[in-house]
Amino acid sequence: MNQEDMKRAVAQAAIPYVPSDSIIGVGTGSTANYFIDALAGLKHKIRGAVASSEASAKRLRGHGIEVLSLNDADDLQVYIDGADEITRHLHMIKGGGGALTREKIVAAASRKFICLCDASKLVDVLGKFPLPIEVIPMARSYVARQLVALGGQPKLRTGFTTDNGNVILDVHGLEIMNPPELEATLNHIAGVVSNGLFARRGADVLLLGTVDGVKTMTL
Ligand code: 5RP
Repeated sequence: MNQEDMKRAVAQAAIPYVPSDSIIGVGTGSTANYFIDALAGLKHKIRGAVASSEASAKRLRGHGIEVLSLNDADDLQVYIDGADEITRHLHMIKGGGGALTREKIVAAASRKFICLCDASKLVDVLGKFPLPIEVIPMARSYVARQLVALGGQPKLRTGFTTDNGNVILDVHGLEIMNPPELEATLNHIAGVVSNGLFARRGADVLLLGTVDGVKTMTL
Protein backbone atom coordinates (compact mmCIF):
# COMPACT_ATOMS: atom_id res chain seq x y z
CA MET A 1 0.00 0.00 0.00
CA ASN A 2 1.39 3.40 -0.93
CA GLN A 3 0.48 6.69 0.74
CA GLU A 4 -2.41 7.43 -1.64
CA ASP A 5 -3.87 3.93 -1.07
CA MET A 6 -3.69 4.55 2.69
CA LYS A 7 -5.48 7.88 2.33
CA ARG A 8 -8.20 6.24 0.24
CA ALA A 9 -8.53 3.41 2.78
CA VAL A 10 -8.96 5.73 5.79
CA ALA A 11 -11.47 7.83 3.85
CA GLN A 12 -13.54 4.72 3.21
CA ALA A 13 -13.17 3.62 6.85
CA ALA A 14 -14.74 6.94 7.95
CA ILE A 15 -18.02 6.23 6.17
CA PRO A 16 -19.55 4.18 9.07
CA TYR A 17 -19.05 7.26 11.31
CA VAL A 18 -21.52 9.26 9.21
CA PRO A 19 -24.95 9.19 10.91
CA SER A 20 -28.04 8.93 8.69
CA ASP A 21 -30.13 12.07 8.24
CA SER A 22 -27.35 14.27 9.66
CA ILE A 23 -25.44 17.38 8.70
CA ILE A 24 -21.73 16.64 9.01
CA GLY A 25 -18.58 18.75 9.08
CA VAL A 26 -16.12 18.09 6.27
CA GLY A 27 -12.44 19.05 6.23
CA THR A 28 -9.91 20.10 3.63
CA GLY A 29 -6.98 18.51 1.82
CA SER A 30 -6.20 15.45 -0.27
CA THR A 31 -7.40 12.94 2.38
CA ALA A 32 -10.59 14.91 2.98
CA ASN A 33 -11.08 14.93 -0.81
CA TYR A 34 -11.04 11.12 -0.85
CA PHE A 35 -13.60 11.20 1.95
CA ILE A 36 -15.82 13.63 0.00
CA ASP A 37 -15.65 11.31 -3.00
CA ALA A 38 -16.63 8.34 -0.81
CA LEU A 39 -19.44 10.41 0.76
CA ALA A 40 -20.98 10.91 -2.68
CA GLY A 41 -22.28 7.32 -2.46
CA LEU A 42 -24.21 8.27 0.71
CA LYS A 43 -25.54 11.61 -0.42
CA HIS A 44 -29.20 10.59 -0.18
CA LYS A 45 -28.70 9.45 3.42
CA ILE A 46 -27.42 12.79 4.77
CA ARG A 47 -29.02 16.23 4.95
CA GLY A 48 -25.87 18.03 3.92
CA ALA A 49 -22.42 19.18 4.96
CA VAL A 50 -20.67 22.19 6.44
CA ALA A 51 -17.34 22.65 4.66
CA SER A 52 -14.13 23.98 6.19
CA SER A 53 -13.01 25.65 2.94
CA GLU A 54 -14.27 26.99 -0.36
CA ALA A 55 -12.36 24.18 -2.12
CA SER A 56 -14.17 21.46 -0.15
CA ALA A 57 -17.52 23.22 -0.63
CA LYS A 58 -16.94 23.17 -4.38
CA ARG A 59 -16.05 19.48 -4.38
CA LEU A 60 -19.09 18.61 -2.24
CA ARG A 61 -21.42 20.56 -4.55
CA GLY A 62 -19.78 18.87 -7.54
CA HIS A 63 -21.06 15.56 -6.13
CA GLY A 64 -24.55 17.01 -5.60
CA ILE A 65 -24.13 17.20 -1.80
CA GLU A 66 -25.85 20.21 -0.24
CA VAL A 67 -23.45 22.63 1.48
CA LEU A 68 -24.82 24.59 4.42
CA SER A 69 -23.46 27.56 6.32
CA LEU A 70 -22.49 26.71 9.91
CA ASN A 71 -24.90 29.47 10.94
CA ASP A 72 -27.77 27.47 9.45
CA ALA A 73 -26.85 24.22 11.21
CA ASP A 74 -27.11 23.20 14.87
CA ASP A 75 -24.18 21.47 16.52
CA LEU A 76 -22.77 18.91 14.10
CA GLN A 77 -22.62 15.26 15.10
CA VAL A 78 -19.28 14.61 13.48
CA TYR A 79 -16.35 16.39 11.80
CA ILE A 80 -14.13 14.38 9.46
CA ASP A 81 -10.76 15.75 8.34
CA GLY A 82 -7.08 14.95 7.83
CA ALA A 83 -4.03 16.37 9.63
CA ASP A 84 -0.38 17.12 8.93
CA GLU A 85 0.92 15.51 12.13
CA ILE A 86 -0.80 13.70 15.00
CA THR A 87 0.37 12.21 18.30
CA ARG A 88 -0.95 9.28 20.33
CA HIS A 89 -2.65 11.89 22.53
CA LEU A 90 -4.58 12.85 19.36
CA HIS A 91 -3.10 16.35 19.36
CA MET A 92 -2.56 17.60 15.80
CA ILE A 93 -0.87 20.11 13.55
CA LYS A 94 -3.26 21.16 10.79
CA GLY A 95 -3.34 23.91 8.21
CA GLY A 96 -0.99 22.61 5.54
CA GLY A 97 -3.79 23.50 3.13
CA GLY A 98 -4.28 26.87 4.80
CA ALA A 99 -7.83 26.15 6.03
CA LEU A 100 -6.95 25.97 9.73
CA THR A 101 -9.29 28.69 11.03
CA ARG A 102 -12.46 27.33 9.45
CA GLU A 103 -11.33 23.80 10.34
CA LYS A 104 -10.99 24.84 13.97
CA ILE A 105 -14.43 26.46 13.97
CA VAL A 106 -16.19 23.47 12.40
CA ALA A 107 -14.30 21.06 14.68
CA ALA A 108 -15.31 23.13 17.74
CA ALA A 109 -18.97 22.96 16.65
CA SER A 110 -18.85 19.17 16.23
CA ARG A 111 -19.48 16.52 18.89
CA LYS A 112 -16.91 14.10 17.47
CA PHE A 113 -13.72 14.68 15.43
CA ILE A 114 -12.63 11.74 13.27
CA CYS A 115 -9.10 12.29 11.98
CA LEU A 116 -7.88 10.49 8.84
CA CYS A 117 -4.12 10.02 8.44
CA ASP A 118 -1.63 7.79 6.69
CA ALA A 119 1.04 6.24 8.90
CA SER A 120 3.70 8.85 8.05
CA LYS A 121 1.79 11.47 10.04
CA LEU A 122 1.90 9.74 13.42
CA VAL A 123 4.71 11.35 15.46
CA ASP A 124 5.98 11.35 19.05
CA VAL A 125 6.49 15.12 19.16
CA LEU A 126 4.74 17.71 17.00
CA GLY A 127 6.77 20.33 15.15
CA LYS A 128 8.74 18.78 12.32
CA PHE A 129 5.89 19.91 10.06
CA PRO A 130 6.01 23.74 10.09
CA LEU A 131 3.19 25.10 12.26
CA PRO A 132 0.78 27.27 10.24
CA ILE A 133 -0.46 30.49 11.84
CA GLU A 134 -3.19 32.59 10.19
CA VAL A 135 -2.43 36.28 10.67
CA ILE A 136 -4.19 39.59 9.87
CA PRO A 137 -1.99 41.08 7.09
CA MET A 138 -1.12 44.34 8.92
CA ALA A 139 0.20 42.34 11.92
CA ARG A 140 2.50 40.06 9.88
CA SER A 141 5.87 41.53 10.96
CA TYR A 142 4.83 42.05 14.59
CA VAL A 143 3.56 38.47 14.87
CA ALA A 144 6.70 37.14 13.16
CA ARG A 145 8.88 38.86 15.81
CA GLN A 146 6.81 37.31 18.61
CA LEU A 147 7.21 33.89 17.01
CA VAL A 148 10.99 34.33 16.83
CA ALA A 149 10.95 35.26 20.55
CA LEU A 150 9.18 31.92 21.18
CA GLY A 151 12.01 30.08 19.43
CA GLY A 152 10.45 29.56 15.98
CA GLN A 153 11.50 30.55 12.48
CA PRO A 154 8.42 31.98 10.74
CA LYS A 155 8.24 32.02 6.94
CA LEU A 156 5.52 33.81 5.01
CA ARG A 157 3.57 31.42 2.75
CA THR A 158 4.08 33.36 -0.46
CA GLY A 159 1.33 33.83 -3.03
CA PHE A 160 -1.29 32.49 -0.63
CA THR A 161 -4.32 34.20 0.89
CA THR A 162 -6.73 32.30 3.15
CA ASP A 163 -10.48 32.05 2.51
CA ASN A 164 -10.75 34.76 5.19
CA GLY A 165 -8.41 37.19 3.36
CA ASN A 166 -5.43 36.71 5.67
CA VAL A 167 -1.82 35.48 5.36
CA ILE A 168 -0.15 32.37 6.75
CA LEU A 169 3.16 32.25 8.62
CA ASP A 170 4.61 28.72 8.67
CA VAL A 171 6.76 28.32 11.78
CA HIS A 172 9.78 26.04 11.42
CA GLY A 173 12.09 24.68 14.10
CA LEU A 174 9.60 24.08 16.90
CA GLU A 175 9.69 21.04 19.15
CA ILE A 176 6.26 21.21 20.76
CA MET A 177 6.44 19.51 24.14
CA ASN A 178 3.19 20.97 25.51
CA PRO A 179 0.74 21.48 22.61
CA PRO A 180 -2.26 22.79 24.65
CA GLU A 181 -0.05 25.41 26.33
CA LEU A 182 1.57 26.61 23.08
CA GLU A 183 -1.84 26.70 21.37
CA ALA A 184 -3.12 29.11 24.04
CA THR A 185 0.08 31.21 24.01
CA LEU A 186 -0.11 31.68 20.23
CA ASN A 187 -3.78 32.62 20.40
CA HIS A 188 -2.89 35.50 22.72
CA ILE A 189 -0.59 37.23 20.23
CA ALA A 190 -2.45 40.25 18.82
CA GLY A 191 -3.01 39.78 15.10
CA VAL A 192 -3.13 35.97 15.23
CA VAL A 193 -6.47 34.73 13.94
CA SER A 194 -5.79 31.11 14.82
CA ASN A 195 -2.97 28.60 14.88
CA GLY A 196 -2.64 25.10 13.48
CA LEU A 197 -2.33 23.35 16.84
CA PHE A 198 -5.45 21.31 17.51
CA ALA A 199 -4.75 20.17 21.07
CA ARG A 200 -7.40 21.81 23.27
CA ARG A 201 -9.95 20.31 20.91
CA GLY A 202 -8.05 17.32 19.58
CA ALA A 203 -9.38 14.36 17.64
CA ASP A 204 -11.68 11.80 19.28
CA VAL A 205 -10.82 8.98 16.87
CA LEU A 206 -7.79 8.49 14.62
CA LEU A 207 -8.19 6.24 11.60
CA LEU A 208 -4.59 5.49 10.69
CA GLY A 209 -3.72 3.97 7.33
CA THR A 210 -0.88 1.46 7.64
CA VAL A 211 0.59 -1.25 5.42
CA ASP A 212 -1.41 -3.74 7.50
CA GLY A 213 -4.71 -1.90 6.99
CA VAL A 214 -6.61 0.80 8.86
CA LYS A 215 -6.03 1.00 12.63
CA THR A 216 -8.47 2.78 14.93
CA MET A 217 -6.98 4.77 17.82
CA THR A 218 -8.85 6.54 20.60
CA LEU A 219 -7.73 8.02 23.93
C1 5RP B 1 -5.71 21.62 5.53
C2 5RP B 1 -5.38 20.59 6.53
C3 5RP B 1 -5.26 19.18 6.06
O1 5RP B 1 -6.07 18.37 6.84
C4 5RP B 1 -3.83 18.74 6.19
O2 5RP B 1 -3.01 19.67 5.53
C5 5RP B 1 -3.63 17.35 5.60
O3 5RP B 1 -3.75 17.39 4.21
P1 5RP B 1 -3.59 16.11 3.29
O4 5RP B 1 -4.75 15.23 3.59
O5 5RP B 1 -3.61 16.67 1.90
O6 5RP B 1 -2.27 15.46 3.62
O7 5RP B 1 -5.21 20.83 7.70
O8 5RP B 1 -5.68 22.91 6.07
